[in-house]
Amino acid sequence: MPEVVGTETRCAVDVPVLRCDPICRDHVAIDLAVPGFPASEPGQFVQLRCCESGPTEPIEADWPADGFPSISDRQFASSQPFLRRPFSIADRWQHSDGAAGLRIISRTVGMGTRWLAHLRPTDTVNLTGPLGRGFAIPPPDVPLVLVGGGVGIPPLLYLARRLHEAGRTDVTAIFGAASRDLLPVRLSSEPATDGTARVCVDLPGAARYPAIVTTDDGSAGLPGMVTAALRAWHSRRAGRGAPAMVCACGPQAMLWAVAQQTRQLGLRCQLCIERVMGCGIGTCLSCVVRVRDANQAAGWRWALACTDGPVFSRDELLDDGGKAPA
Ligand SMILES: Cc1cc2nc3c(=O)[nH]c(=O)nc-3n(C[C@H](O)[C@H](O)[C@H](O)COP(=O)(O)OP(=O)(O)OC[C@H]3O[C@@H](n4cnc5c(N)ncnc54)[C@H](O)[C@@H]3O)c2cc1C
Ligand code: FES
Repeated sequence: MPEVVGTETRCAVDVPVLRCDPICRDHVAIDLAVPGFPASEPGQFVQLRCCESGPTEPIEADWPADGFPSISDRQFASSQPFLRRPFSIADRWQHSDGAAGLRIISRTVGMGTRWLAHLRPTDTVNLTGPLGRGFAIPPPDVPLVLVGGGVGIPPLLYLARRLHEAGRTDVTAIFGAASRDLLPVRLSSEPATDGTARVCVDLPGAARYPAIVTTDDGSAGLPGMVTAALRAWHSRRAGRGAPAMVCACGPQAMLWAVAQQTRQLGLRCQLCIERVMGCGIGTCLSCVVRVRDANQAAGWRWALACTDGPVFSRDELLDDGGKAPA
């Protein structure tokens, strides 16, 4: 039985891997069983230790008062990642024994994610979470559009489950990838090539929301980018109903394009951003981002993506669209 350490709202724990299956050319879905996992929101993330758990050998080193410790490259460089890696919660469900089922969808890009991709049932992984601030769900009359690009899609899957459980019906997904074999979701049927939203993507739980799929090379769905699909979706609505809220996650360039487009279209918008995260808990300052603050002389201040985000309202962020202050 894994030991849960920490406060009521966060845990650090070794958890069993239930399965690790490929979803596409470079993404795997990893299901974990986490007893006592605290309440979590879509958009929050966990930090995974991407190497064997267990005590590591201490290194003895001289540390002269006027210099640096003498540690050789060989001692310092390791074949295992030293820092934990952040991953969005891609889904959460309840097991019959009360443990939370958690899904992580990982794109293999380097040392840590390569280790994750080779996990097998019976392996364990050390997890800290849930961390950060998730999406704020708007009132029931506000239509929602979930815009995800590539590895930004996972938190929107968990969001789709939660919206379905909350009885939300006016929800559309717009999911894009470079090509069909890089989509980190399974297609339940062929997506439309003209940008029509249809039920074609496997969403978690019983969520059956219509989706527009885009690929840069046209190998699935609408050829082009998610912003073209968002524009098409908006013009089809032709001002019907309340202005929608866009919840977006994906590469930075995509997020800034979505930020600008939603402004032009008069839509509200939340962005789930990615930064290199050393600790995930607000101590290392590797994840700083500028947010507007009228109380500061400069009109902005630093915030931490790991604790103030990773989800921000579009209008909080200063740097969207690359417009940095002078
Ligand atoms: C809040 C948050 C949520 C995330 N959710 C997911 C997710 O659900 N699924 C997923 O696959 N990935 C996610 N990521 C990105 C993931 O954390 C990185 O891909 C991972 O840390 C890479 O580890 P690695 O050891 O395999 O790569 P490394 O060997 O550390 O690096 C390999 C390459 O990836 C780049 N890289 C490493 N970390 C990041 C990062 N944070 N942002 C951008 N580029 C990076 C490096 O610059 C390098 O080029 C998330 C990141 C954040 C901050
Ligand atoms: S990741 Fe360390 S402060 Fe945010």
